[in-house]
Order: sequence, then C-alpha cells, then structure tokens
Amino acid sequence: MSVPKAVFEPLRIKGKTLLPIVQGGMGVGVSAHRLAGTVASLGALGTISSVDLRRHHPDLMAKTARSRDRALIDAVNLEALDREVRAALDLSAGHGAVAVNIMRAVSAYADYVRRACESGAHAVVVGAGLPLDLPELTADYPEVALLPILSDARGIALILKKWMRKQRLPDGIVIENPRYAAGHLGAPTLDSVASPHFAFPEVIEGTLAVFKDLGLERERIPLIAAGGIHTHEQVRELLALGASAVQLGTPFAVSEEGDAHPNFKTVLAQATPDDIVTFMSVAGLPARAVRTPWLAEYLEKEAKLQRVAKTRKCTVGFDCLQQCGLRDGIAKHGQFCIDTRLAYALAGDVKRGLFFRGSETLPFGREIRPVRDLIAYLMTGAT
Ligand SMILES: Cc1cc2nc3c(=O)[nH]c(=O)nc-3n(C[C@H](O)[C@H](O)[C@H](O)COP(=O)(O)O)c2cc1C
Ligand code: SF4
Repeated sequence: MSVPKAVFEPLRIKGKTLLPIVQGGMGVGVSAHRLAGTVASLGALGTISSVDLRRHHPDLMAKTARSRDRALIDAVNLEALDREVRAALDLSAGHGAVAVNIMRAVSAYADYVRRACESGAHAVVVGAGLPLDLPELTADYPEVALLPILSDARGIALILKKWMRKQRLPDGIVIENPRYAAGHLGAPTLDSVASPHFAFPEVIEGTLAVFKDLGLERERIPLIAAGGIHTHEQVRELLALGASAVQLGTPFAVSEEGDAHPNFKTVLAQATPDDIVTFMSVAGLPARAVRTPWLAEYLEKEAKLQRVAKTRKCTVGFDCLQQCGLRDGIAKHGQFCIDTRLAYALAGDVKRGLFFRGSETLPFGREIRPVRDLIAYLMTGAT
C-alpha cells in the first residue's frame, strides 16, 4: 500500500521513520491485528490492545469460555497476543510499526509486556497506571520502544526521574487529555476530567520545561497528543505546539478495518454528544462511553450497588484486574464486570455491551471508512 504524501515531519521512534499518526490501543479486541497491521502498512504506528484477545480466536474460546481457571485463561490470552502480533507484523509487510498496549491495572500486565516483546512488537505502550517497572521488565529487549501514557507534566516528571535512575528513557510519551479521550481516563476523579490543567498547550509546555530541568532537551523524546483529535487542522496545531505526533482512538475504532463487530462501529459513529457519559469504572478510574441500554440502567442503580458493595469472588474467575471495585467491594469504584461488558460490545451486543467512546465528533461523521482515508485526511486535509 502506498503511504499518503506527508506534509509533516515524521515521527522517529527507535530508528523507525513513521507518519506522525498513532492508532491508540483499544480493548477488548477493538484494536487487534487487522486494525494495527493496516495502520502500520500505511507507514504509521498501529497498536494492538493486549487485553483478553482470546475472544478473536474460536479455538481458544472453546477451551476457556466456561472456564474459571485463571491460569488457563491467562495462558490462552498470551497465545492469542502472540498470534495477533505476528499477524499484524505480516499485514504491515515491513512498513510502519506495530505496538502493544498494556494497561498497568490488569493482573497479567507483566506477562503481557514480556510476551509482546518476545512476539516481536516494535513498541510497548502502557497506560492506566504508572509503569515504574517497565525498564526492568523489558531489559532483555532493548530494541523495543517504551511509551508510557500520561496526562500531566507532574506524572511525566515522576516517570522520567524514576526511569533515569535505571538508565532508561521513554522512546515517546503519549499525553492523553481526559477531557476528550475514550475508555479509562488519566484523571483522579470524575470532577477533575475537564480540568484546564490537562489542556495540551499547558501539558506540552510543562513537559518541555521538565525536559529542560532534567537536562533531557537534546534527547528529543517525542510527545504524542491524544484525546478528541478529529480534524487535520488540530493535527497542524498540535504539531506546531511541539507534539511529534497525534494518537486517535475512536476514529480508528469505527474504521472499516477496526476489529470489532459492525454494530460496535454503528453505536460509536451514531452517538450524539448527549449520549456520551463519564462515570467511574470498576478499575477505579473515570471512563467515557456511550449511554447504551445497559449503561443507562447500570448508572440508575449505581448508587444502590455501591452502598451494598462487598468483597466477593470474581464473577467469571478471570480476575482480570489487580484491583476490581466489584470483586474487592470498593464502594467508590464501579460495580460491574468490565471484561464481560466489553466482550459483549466487541461482539456487537448493543443491549448488553459497554461501548467506550471519546467525546468529540468524528472526522467522517457517521460514515465507516477505510483506515487509508482517515490517515490521508489527518495528513493532508483531503476528504
Ligand atoms: C473502544 C476503545 C477502547 C479503548 N481501550 C483502551 C485500552 O485498552 N488501553 C488504553 O490505553 N487506551 C484505550 N483507549 C483509548 C485510546 O487508545 C485513545 O488514546 C483515546 O481513545 C484517544 O481519544 P479519542 O478516542 O478521542 O481519539 C480506548 C479507546 C476506545 C475508543
Ligand atoms: S469481576 Fe472484576 S476482576 Fe473479575 S473479570 Fe470482572 S472486572 Fe475482571
């Protein structure tokens, strides 16, 4: 596939020269090999979400669909991750780069990081928590780029200082603005997601000041802005502000090559601003999604469920999260099983699924179009 004509400086990561466009990791299964491999084939950075990828593999699901054996579920998910990384690399045909996104908050975080490296991913991207231990976990794979996802200059300073003590620097930093992004948000509370403190100009400027304080100006660590980006003009503005690339989630989720069921794409593409809500996830972070029938019903019952929160066994025996509001009886967190709900959404179950989505309109409105069109539009403004 040919690469859209670049009008911007390339993104340089670990010796690779890429289009300054990153497709963010999207679980469960929303960004698997087809989406990430297609994005990479066009010369950009495509990201596979590592969470519960067995759902794309009927043979692995047959082994575990009714199982409550966490070790077995983890083992098949690692097998699925390996298959997805290799398939994405094949599809990319040596173009672009393939990353794996791993949430710090998931129980199998360290295993997913190691398997992503073993399987040949070019980069590991970690959000939903501070990946202080990522340098040690990846020490045997110095060729794999490390990209933490953070939301403010304070968090970035913290990671840089900790990693510098281990003689490692990030190969890029994703700055995600919780005001607009989809899925789990990097803000401590629901009230703080829209804080002006997360605005890109402030965070980029603050981060450049941190680089200066730490003597890292010459390292040219790329900053990748994420959350709510949907026009070519925004790409221009962000790169002019000092970002080296932009990361998009929702617009890629609804692309033709997005790995979720067509219903999933329709729910995201047809949602109006009034349909999009921010609420507390079971992982203890605010999250943003479409108010579909299940979510509307859950939110009505949420306060009651929180009042009766108590420790219990994981409802499906998977224990996917290190800390789960439902299993661990944490009243201020969400009280639902996120793995089950995201799996329904992936399969296109509009009534029962949880559909993560960012707050902004989409580049092509309600249209489902190929990844190639989206990248060309972001790069050149051509529709
Ligand atoms: C359906 C969906 C699932 C997501 N899942 C994850 C995830 O598992 N890990 C993660 O770091 N980010 C996740 N994200 C966030 C995206 O990677 C991206 O940073 C974010 O969506 C950017 O905002 P935008 O959707 O406004 O472009 C998800 C986003 C969507 C739309
Ligand atoms: S109950 Fe909690 S830990 Fe268990 S699978 Fe669901 S979200 Fe994960």
